[in-house]
Amino acid sequence: MQTHLRGRDMITEQEWTMDELDTVFDVAWELKRQRALGTPHPILLHKTLAMLFFFTSTRTRGSFEAGMAQLGGHAAFIDSETTQISHGDTAKEIGEIFGRYFDGIAIRQCDWDFGNKYIREVAEASRVPILNMQDDVYHPFQILADAMTIMEKFGRNNLKGKTINVSWAYAASYQKPISVPQSLILLMTRFGMNVRLTHPPEYKLMPDIVQQAQDNAKKSGGSLEVLHDFDEGFKGADIVYPKSWGALLTTTDNAESARIGKQYTSWITDSKRMALAKDHAVYMHCLPADRNIEVTDEVIDGPQSIVYDEAENRLHVQKAVMALTMN
Ligand code: CP
Repeated sequence: MQTHLRGRDMITEQEWTMDELDTVFDVAWELKRQRALGTPHPILLHKTLAMLFFFTSTRTRGSFEAGMAQLGGHAAFIDSETTQISHGDTAKEIGEIFGRYFDGIAIRQCDWDFGNKYIREVAEASRVPILNMQDDVYHPFQILADAMTIMEKFGRNNLKGKTINVSWAYAASYQKPISVPQSLILLMTRFGMNVRLTHPPEYKLMPDIVQQAQDNAKKSGGSLEVLHDFDEGFKGADIVYPKSWGALLTTTDNAESARIGKQYTSWITDSKRMALAKDHAVYMHCLPADRNIEVTDEVIDGPQSIVYDEAENRLHVQKAVMALTMN
């Protein structure tokens, strides 16, 4: 267990060692247990977290806000639209100033080719931990919650050799960030898992992230393979995680992206696709999902779906990271 995490940023879990992440999971389970028992755990009494959102949220906002209250502190919801950022407050000023008011600054900034740079600029100027609530490159808290959920289903030390299919799926709504599949392939390869990245050719991820995932797999004894056939990705998988993301490395034009996507409307997870995976396979999705476009109701509401456990575990991993970094 690592005990020196005070003051650390969580911008990507790739920057934390496996020992440090083990500590996060230890604390997350302890806090989950305490919440189940109704045991108060005011580890961050009177501490405050700024939650700066440039983008909408259901789970991230709810779980950070509830988590801070359960730890005895307060989370301030700050919609960027209501700030003076559009009138000139710079990233450096946000880091300097919020760093003097708050004990942590959490930010969601998903704008393509901007969000991660913005968060790192705030971090540079901040004296308190920066927590990435999702940017254009990473979604670390989602993926920590996903890992915790997989460990609960398969056993904490039983991930090595398991096959996870991180797949693109069709959605009509908008160009979703690529941060979830990128963070997934980065972390799951560190557990020695066999990671499949399945997508149409236009939906590739950032080459340096794919390379880092390849390097992670080499070190852990796992693997990363890239497939372009939706059904192939499901075959024999233990875990399937099909979700939509934007063709952002191909085009940033929304109309062009919609045109590309229309070629792949058959990339929907239904019971026939689930039957290609192992009998014990679980279906995961970070939510929100485009129901009956990305995934059928039958699958997402079915016995193999663990989406609500995933959503719940956001609360516990975030509390763990806040308790370890902001105390
Ligand atoms: N999964 C996730 O981050 O959900 P929200 O966008 O609702 O926060």
